[in-house]
Amino acid sequence: MSVRLNPGSCSLSLQELMMADAEQVWRFFPFTQDAFDARMQLIYDNYVRDNQDPDVFAADLQFPLAKIIGNVLQFAPFNQLDGAWLRHITPDGPLANINELLFRIRMDELGDGNVEQNHANVYTDLLRSVNIYLPDLHTRAYADYPALLNSSFTTTVFLLAISEFNDEFFPELLGMTLELEWGSVSLPRQVNQLIAYGITPQYYKLHVGIDNASEGHGAIAKEAVEMYLQMVRQQDGEDAMQTAWKRIWNGYVAFGTLGSLGADLAELPTPQDQGPSDLWNQMAAMIASKAQYASLMHGDIMLGENRLNDWFEDPFGLLEALQEAGIVVPGNLDSPIFRLMGFNGPMYKVFNDEQQRLWQRWVLSLPSTQGKRPPRLKAYKKGEAQSAVYNNMRIVVDMLRARQQGATGHIVRLQGPDPKNPDQKTTMTIHEWFNLGANLVGDNQKEQLREADDLLLKALSDEATAGSSSVTC
Ligand SMILES: [Fe+2]
Ligand SMILES: [Fe+2]
Repeated sequence: MSVRLNPGSCSLSLQELMMADAEQVWRFFPFTQDAFDARMQLIYDNYVRDNQDPDVFAADLQFPLAKIIGNVLQFAPFNQLDGAWLRHITPDGPLANINELLFRIRMDELGDGNVEQNHANVYTDLLRSVNIYLPDLHTRAYADYPALLNSSFTTTVFLLAISEFNDEFFPELLGMTLELEWGSVSLPRQVNQLIAYGITPQYYKLHVGIDNASEGHGAIAKEAVEMYLQMVRQQDGEDAMQTAWKRIWNGYVAFGTLGSLGADLAELPTPQDQGPSDLWNQMAAMIASKAQYASLMHGDIMLGENRLNDWFEDPFGLLEALQEAGIVVPGNLDSPIFRLMGFNGPMYKVFNDEQQRLWQRWVLSLPSTQGKRPPRLKAYKKGEAQSAVYNNMRIVVDMLRARQQGATGHIVRLQGPDPKNPDQKTTMTIHEWFNLGANLVGDNQKEQLREADDLLLKALSDEATAGSSSVTC
């Protein structure tokens, strides 16, 4: 099982793509084996179509890295509970074939006894690989984690709730299982996207294999549905079987269309001041989560040149201002800020234990950055072109030019100076930026090559400044 929404496709989620075929995909139909096979095949074909569509791939790469990482975070509650919807699927005592099929899925989700293969652990590894360290899943702090959207918990809560009533909702659970497992045909999209952004795609990659519709969980889920309906038909007749089928399909559609996370992610603004340090970002997110009330609580207290109340509009600025005012001393857990949080301080109980630990980790990290937020990449400026680093970059670019044609990731579009009018901007694929320096003709090819390199590096530099690192060679 895995997510049905593409974690990076904020504006073009898989669910939305599927909704384009909504009438075909979700519409109820009376069960016959042929009709069931045909619908599953149609859904499979839709997923494959989207996986192979270069426009979809290009759309998946339109976001800054910070947005992709943010989406990885938002899918944590769902993916860190992978398998939980089947947590009561196996009753004690003699076991029916259907339960055994579903238990096989459950076992795989849990890693079949291998901790490192537990799907929730694999997702936790993914989170850590992008510097996201969430509180323990089983704590209140996790549920209250300020950076997580409420809608990140919708499907999770739904699956936990429905699995609590396993017997009552067994047909619906079968439908949910089918939707989750069959939907994994879509996952090459996620794998390709994460690879393009330099993020380890292991979680999605393993689901491409294990959930496959031929022998994997997709096939097992489909077989379980068929087996169950056959059993109901034999025991209670055709009408009862059709009633059970309606409930299965309700479960399928309910889970496939539930929640608003895709829409919420699309609306979530990309952080304007997102630095490469997750610690600073977590601090900023925590401060932002308190801004609604905190920005009204501090009266006329000034911090530097601004009222403290106003600093909540600029969390990163507030974090630096606290240091300039000596309220936070880099590396010193004896800083005044911690006394303010103490029993006799005005901020007693304003921060929970987890948040106080975050404050401590951040304060301890400060000496290495001298109290400043980690710097972002600097754009190339005119006049710097003669530097050794720049010249080395030109050598790299010229070397990679010959190898870049086959790189599928190079359909990514970058904005840079228009070759015909450098005062204006234009957008081209990486292939096209490289090709400015290919097949040169005329006497001054050295100059032409330098000009082409300058344009490509400026385009890359602009992209880096915008926070994206989707560029690979
Ligand atoms: Fe699965
Ligand atoms: Fe899984």
